[in-house]
Amino acid sequence: MATLEIENLQADVGEEGGETILRGVDLTVDSGEIHALMGPNGSGKSTLGKVIAGHPAYDVTGGSVTLRLDGNEFGEEIPEDMQEWDLLDLEPNERAALGIFLGFQYPVEIEGVTMVNFLRTALNTKLEEREELFEEEEAEAEAEDEEEAEGYESSPMEGPADEGEIGVAEFQQILQEKMELLDMDESFASRYLNVGFSGGEKKQNEVLQAAILEPEIAVLDEIDSGLDIDRLQDVSDGINALRDEEGAGILQITHYQRILDYVEPDHVHVMLDGEIAKSGDADLAEQLEDEGYDWVREEVYEAA
Ligand SMILES: Nc1ncnc2c1ncn2[C@@H]1O[C@H](COP(=O)(O)OP(=O)(O)O)[C@@H](O)[C@H]1O
Ligand SMILES: [Mg+2]
Repeated sequence: MATLEIENLQADVGEEGGETILRGVDLTVDSGEIHALMGPNGSGKSTLGKVIAGHPAYDVTGGSVTLRLDGNEFGEEIPEDMQEWDLLDLEPNERAALGIFLGFQYPVEIEGVTMVNFLRTALNTKLEEREELFEEEEAEAEAEDEEEAEGYESSPMEGPADEGEIGVAEFQQILQEKMELLDMDESFASRYLNVGFSGGEKKQNEVLQAAILEPEIAVLDEIDSGLDIDRLQDVSDGINALRDEEGAGILQITHYQRILDYVEPDHVHVMLDGEIAKSGDADLAEQLEDEGYDWVREEVYEAA
């Protein structure tokens, strides 16, 4: 179990005179819960996802993002003084290692990197990073020296193909299980990363990547955009499996109510002008679909 707690989070675009985008976001997501984050274009939804993940384009100017792990996470016992992490203090890859996953709105295409290699390297990088985070400082320094000596870079694109904790054969096993879990076609894995993938296939890959990395909290940004109904169904089944089989918490950013018919949210939040203006249950999403966002805006004005 883990809890992601966002309190009064404020962020600007990280450049001279950069616009303020997040104006005090409060949101708590527990693993095992599905939260839908809705709101008009430009309200700051994607920015929130990126700030959680540690995207360098933004400056956090206030508030906190905390990840709380329980005492038994990642199949091991976690000492009390290492259960609470101030994510804003950590690098993006360290946040990922602790279980934050951010899917991309527009996955990149990379020629010459197969899905299977990419996924295995991503998993090994995460495991290695996590080990370092939980090691004593001294041991950590040693590991870094070793890494340097081997010329290993912590990017999932680099490093020798046979490097890492999870070997090729073991990873094949993991991959097969995950692909079965998501009901995916096996030929996927041998293809080059996203090259020539349809929009729907890219989205399915995103879910596969999440399933392999087994995040505590997955932020999925408009994973439903541009999907036909069959793909939407497949992707939705995958998201439900992430929650039901792996216990992930999901922060599902979406512009449309449609996917929420397949991935039923426990909580629905409306973001307006960089704040969560209203929260409710699945009924709120339907109301938004029928009536738009203006009434929420009016409510906020009236209350102010
Ligand atoms: N890196 C950036 N540089 C400049 N403006 C940005 C940047 N990121 C986001 N914005 C602006 O912040 C606002 C919120 O953007 P975004 O978070 O993408 O909204 P949403 O995902 O809700 O559509 C928009 O006005 C957008 O133009
Ligand atoms: Mg967006």
